[in-house]
Amino acid sequence: MAFNKLTAEEAASFVHNGTVVGLSGFTAPGVPKVVPEVVAHKAAAEHEAGREFKIDIFSGASTGDHCDGILARNNAVGRRTPYQNHPDLRKRINSHDAHYFDLHLSELAQKMRYGFYGDIDVAIVEVQDINDEGEAVLGLGVGNAPTWVQMAKKVIVERNSHLPEGLRGLHDIFVPADPPYRGEIPIFKASDRAGSPLLKIDPAKIVGIVETNAPEGVKSFSAPDETTLKIGANVCNFLAGELRAGRIPASFLPLQSGVGNVANAVLYGLAENLDIPPFEMYSEVLQDAVADLLLKGRCKFASASSLTMTDDTLDTVFSNIDVLRDKIILRPSEISNNPEVIRRLGVIAMNTALEADIFGNINSTHVTGIRMMNGIGGSGDFTRNAYISIFSCPSITKGGLISNIVPMVSHVDHTEHSVDVLITEQGVADLRGLDPVQRANAIIDNCAHPMYRELLRDYLKIGRAGQTPHNLHASMGFHTAFIENGDMTTVDWSKYSK
Ligand code: COA
Repeated sequence: MAFNKLTAEEAASFVHNGTVVGLSGFTAPGVPKVVPEVVAHKAAAEHEAGREFKIDIFSGASTGDHCDGILARNNAVGRRTPYQNHPDLRKRINSHDAHYFDLHLSELAQKMRYGFYGDIDVAIVEVQDINDEGEAVLGLGVGNAPTWVQMAKKVIVERNSHLPEGLRGLHDIFVPADPPYRGEIPIFKASDRAGSPLLKIDPAKIVGIVETNAPEGVKSFSAPDETTLKIGANVCNFLAGELRAGRIPASFLPLQSGVGNVANAVLYGLAENLDIPPFEMYSEVLQDAVADLLLKGRCKFASASSLTMTDDTLDTVFSNIDVLRDKIILRPSEISNNPEVIRRLGVIAMNTALEADIFGNINSTHVTGIRMMNGIGGSGDFTRNAYISIFSCPSITKGGLISNIVPMVSHVDHTEHSVDVLITEQGVADLRGLDPVQRANAIIDNCAHPMYRELLRDYLKIGRAGQTPHNLHASMGFHTAFIENGDMTTVDWSKYSK
């Protein structure tokens, strides 16, 4: 059956105030490029006319300015999950204009199918191409598209002619059955395929196709600086040491790398460190550095849910697509981040913290415990199930006004139970097998910045006797000093009794 051709405006007419929208993609890649923007203009016109207009957005992860950005600026976001990283949406979330709930990325699809968050009214899906039977080659990010098209009452397809034909064969679409019928996910190495290269969409649900021609527009990372390069080198040296000690098998294990500047710098470090053998990745996003690693043969194979790469890097990927197609698989995020698979493969997880405390708890999401930054993303999916779970961050931020190592994290995303190793530019704290006080000493001595070490040791001295010697009055002393004086070094422990 030939599908209707729609303009973006005609497609947007299927989206009303209160519509629950499921978007394909994972980070900006794979997210529809034009319909969300037209919906945002529609919201602006409705608001102008004094009428309510907000939509609920369920995605794979963050999106981009053409979606979260413009919808947030037009106050058109109602419920939002599972991850975002746009400054304008962040403002709406922190002022409660948008109702964001932060979720482990692997869990959203199944929780939607279980019926926990209601229905999907309209799925908007970006494809490279689609045939008359509704079999589609997805774009550069899969996310939760397979579940959205399964659940949605209507499907709008955006066919993006910017994407090369060579993407056919890159994807592996597999949706596990729900309990009590779920079997194993048949992935035993990063390069295993479990499903189909095509996404099957019920043709009866497809209301039409919008033709687009748009690049992904992923913004580039800050070039690695002295701090991030040192963090990268420390991570690599730690991994090389584990390999020498025989705690990582000689053939090495698949790596997961988180999002952001630090994560990208760690990957560049891996390219340089020849003590690490060529490796595979089982991750959720493949950032710019991975294209280089794949082309140089440092990375043998990479599995993820999206190619979160800048347009320049994507041009290189597209011109080498015939080589890279056999080295990359793009999967639904439910599978790229699947705890069963991560634990089976022995994935080494490397994620970034906003702050860590001296006992090994991690805050990845909330600035001073209050303001949402991005969300937990897939960091929990990987951290809790990894072979070794590593967190890294700089030891200080904002020129030292903030210590990223604090007495107690102001919000907990990953507990001490899930964190094996903490790494900053100062060094490595291997927390495995240590009790809380031993962990505190390892973190203060190896990871804290020298300007904060004494303050942290002094905190331990005013702690109450117990396995984890916190002083509950003083535990947020660094944060309150920052809120009151803009500088954590102004903390005054003498104000607090033991
Ligand atoms: N307190 C206040 N602000 C802090 C801070 C702290 N403890 N630590 C960092 N920041 C600020 C930085 O100054 C910077 O601010 P700026 O944008 O004004 O310059 C910003 O936070 C980002 O810091 P940066 O060091 O550039 O971090 P990043 O780009 O490496 O990202 C996270 C770090 C934690 C925000 C990011 O990794 C993230 O969102 N993680 C959660 C999701 C996740 O891990 N997903 C991966 C799973 S595969």
